[in-house]
Amino acid sequence: MRTLRTIAEAREALPREGIGLVPTMGALHAGHVALFAAARRENGVVVASIFVNPAQFGEGEDFERYPRDEEADAAAAEAAGVDVLFVPATEEMYPPGFDTWVKVKGASAELEGDARPGHFRGVATVCLKLFNIVRPDRAYFGQKDAQQAAVVERLVADLDLDLEIRVVPTVREEDGLAVSSRNAYLSAEEREAAAALPKALRAGEEAQGRGADPLEAARAVLGAESRLEPEYVELAKLDGRVYLLAAARAGRTRLIDNIVLEGDPL
Ligand code: PAJ
Repeated sequence: MRTLRTIAEAREALPREGIGLVPTMGALHAGHVALFAAARRENGVVVASIFVNPAQFGEGEDFERYPRDEEADAAAAEAAGVDVLFVPATEEMYPPGFDTWVKVKGASAELEGDARPGHFRGVATVCLKLFNIVRPDRAYFGQKDAQQAAVVERLVADLDLDLEIRVVPTVREEDGLAVSSRNAYLSAEEREAAAALPKALRAGEEAQGRGADPLEAARAVLGAESRLEPEYVELAKLDGRVYLLAAARAGRTRLIDNIVLEGDPL
């Protein structure tokens, strides 16, 4: 596995064709590994980027304390079959004078967009830059962040980008909690409480199956866990499917999750 740190190096070293790109912020875990595996199956060259993108963190969010461990990430990426790691410095991606932002309007407007103003502007901008630097045939995103995947799909369609977006199902812990870099912030007690989030989504799914109200069922389960502070439980149509999406806080840590209620499962 090669590690590239500059845009010039990437332009020179990467082939013109056959690339699968997995954009990440590092702190690699089983969810990222599932994306690497999907990319490995479909592409000659697998590129993973590791960049904790300051532009997508709001004030008071966890940019500073976001877990960073390049050595462990490099080992995990290599073991998962990644060929090239792209690890740019902040100034490489946002040099002095940087002043262009991409805003995907509708898809960024609700849910995470409401909760985290400017977040998807940062995501869309960095993804467009990564697509231009790496020029992949395919790029891989997780269902865990379904709204993010929808924002990126819109970006690709609207700006005529010549790549395909693949969405990979959410990888979960044994108790159902979606694997996430942010789970490392949870105390033992918060970690235990966090299982109520996927449990609420499953209750919603089950309610939908028997013709009851999925929102009511999911909100009841989430509301019953006093150690979590619910932020939203909503239905939304993304990429033609109906999703049940939820966000909640466990202490200082914000958790999100979703499941497909209607439409083809991913
Ligand atoms: P990050 O949180 O590192 O996630 C990178 C990719 O891994 C995202 O597409 C995310 O949806 C996916 N992922 C995370 N947890 C997952 C899980 N449990 N199962 C399946 N996939 C999972 O998302 C970002 O970084 C950034 O916003 C990024 C796209 C890199 C832009 O900066």
